Amino acid sequence: GMKKKEVNVICVGLDNSGKTTIINQLKPQNAQQSDIVPTIGFTVEKFASASLSFTVFDMSGQGRYRNLWEHYYKDAQAIIFVIDSSDKLRMVVAKDELEQLLNNQDILSKRIPILFYANKMDMKESLSAVKVSQMMGLETIKDKPWHICASNAITGEGLPEGVEWVTDQIR
Ligand code: GTP
Ligand code: MG
Repeated sequence: GMKKKEVNVICVGLDNSGKTTIINQLKPQNAQQSDIVPTIGFTVEKFASASLSFTVFDMSGQGRYRNLWEHYYKDAQAIIFVIDSSDKLRMVVAKDELEQLLNNQDILSKRIPILFYANKMDMKESLSAVKVSQMMGLETIKDKPWHICASNAITGEGLPEGVEWVTDQIR
């Protein structure tokens, strides 16, 4: 069969938004971890879609590690930005981090697709993907393809739609 095309992705977003849980769900069942702990620095993970083989930089979202994100933008062919839909208080912090990302030279200079997961859709206080999109100001992103999916990383609900969108953008 055909060898799948290799793609580098960076996964960012605030601490506790669910990045590692999402990536863990996307891995084959026999490679999944049963206990997820806060990421220190970053880890490198792999998963595949029908046509692509993804290498993902799963970055820590803790404040003290966020300065690491920008070092991996240059080699990234897509960005996964995870938002905790139930964390209204910190959505302004997430928005600020997104603005910094969008203003980075390595991001400004390319038409990189950005997938947003409005994660933790199962929490009763969680905002809809439309509301998260409004609070994050996503409609102002004009020069890059972007997409937002509501997701539940615990069950995996909503995750495949996002991966399919990224796959379509890169193909
Ligand atoms: P850092 O590595 O610190 O940046 O955090 P992270 O974004 O990788 O978050 P992580 O995947 O470690 O998840 C944080 C917590 O949120 C864990 O307790 C997860 O079980 C929980 N969690 C992740 N996704 C969901 C979700 O969709 N729904 C619910 N209810 N909990 C979730
Ligand atoms: Mg993590």
